[in-house]
Amino acid sequence: MSSHRHDRRLSIQDIRQRREIGSLVVLTAYSTPMARLLDEHVDVLLVGDSLGMVLYGMPHTLAVSLDMMIAHGAAVVRGSRHACVVVDLPFASYQASPQQAFLAAARVLAESGAQAVKVEGGAEMAETIAFLVQRGIPVMGHVGLMPQKVNAMGGFRVQGKEQTGQAEVLRDARAVAEAGAFSLVLEGTLEAVSRLVCEALEIPVIGIGASPACAGQVLVTEDMLGLGGEHMPRFAERYVRVDEMIADAAARFASDVRERRFPQPRHCFGMPEA
Ligand code: KIV
Repeated sequence: MSSHRHDRRLSIQDIRQRREIGSLVVLTAYSTPMARLLDEHVDVLLVGDSLGMVLYGMPHTLAVSLDMMIAHGAAVVRGSRHACVVVDLPFASYQASPQQAFLAAARVLAESGAQAVKVEGGAEMAETIAFLVQRGIPVMGHVGLMPQKVNAMGGFRVQGKEQTGQAEVLRDARAVAEAGAFSLVLEGTLEAVSRLVCEALEIPVIGIGASPACAGQVLVTEDMLGLGGEHMPRFAERYVRVDEMIADAAARFASDVRERRFPQPRHCFGMPEA
């Protein structure tokens, strides 16, 4: 059993204080059964809009809706007691104005029971983040590679390669922290740039393809389980091949049905067991 287990749910304040390297464990979750399995091992369950690609087979996250995020967020809250639950605001639900962002975030918190929202964006989102935070909505930021900007970025590309890119990532991270975010996801950014960001901020930085210097690390759970498909991002680690276990179980079931070994009398009602 994890030594991180608490008898209450971790709060935003608990997470904000975790600045020590390696002190924040974050995994994505989209469903009640997965949340139940992960809850005692992690500090934050992130209901990421990556669910559009991972669960729904979409090519990117742009078509994920607010209703989808609320439904999956509520499922994860129902399956957890310990972890702080954070839900992504999906594309086009918050970028138009701080007011639009407030209405979307308020629905997420009220209807899913999650404790915070995550928004992608740097300096251009600072006003919106401050607007939400001042009105009681805790915000996790997300800078570096921002999947909702896949079209503008010309694909899912590592950030901070050029001098201007480095300065931009650092500027974005600072702006999000100054606006009042309680933590920051830093994705797909050169290690040296990520380290600079971790040193510069007073809130915990949660890395994904960022740096070992981050306070926390996050993975998409399906990547960790071998359920993310054949293409594994460089920054992910496969801890187990659940894909092979599922294929094996399905093949054994299929052969049992075809060879008439399933069902047995013990699976049936009113059929005497030999
Ligand atoms: O959508 C998501 O799952 C995320 C994580 C990969 C950080 O944003």
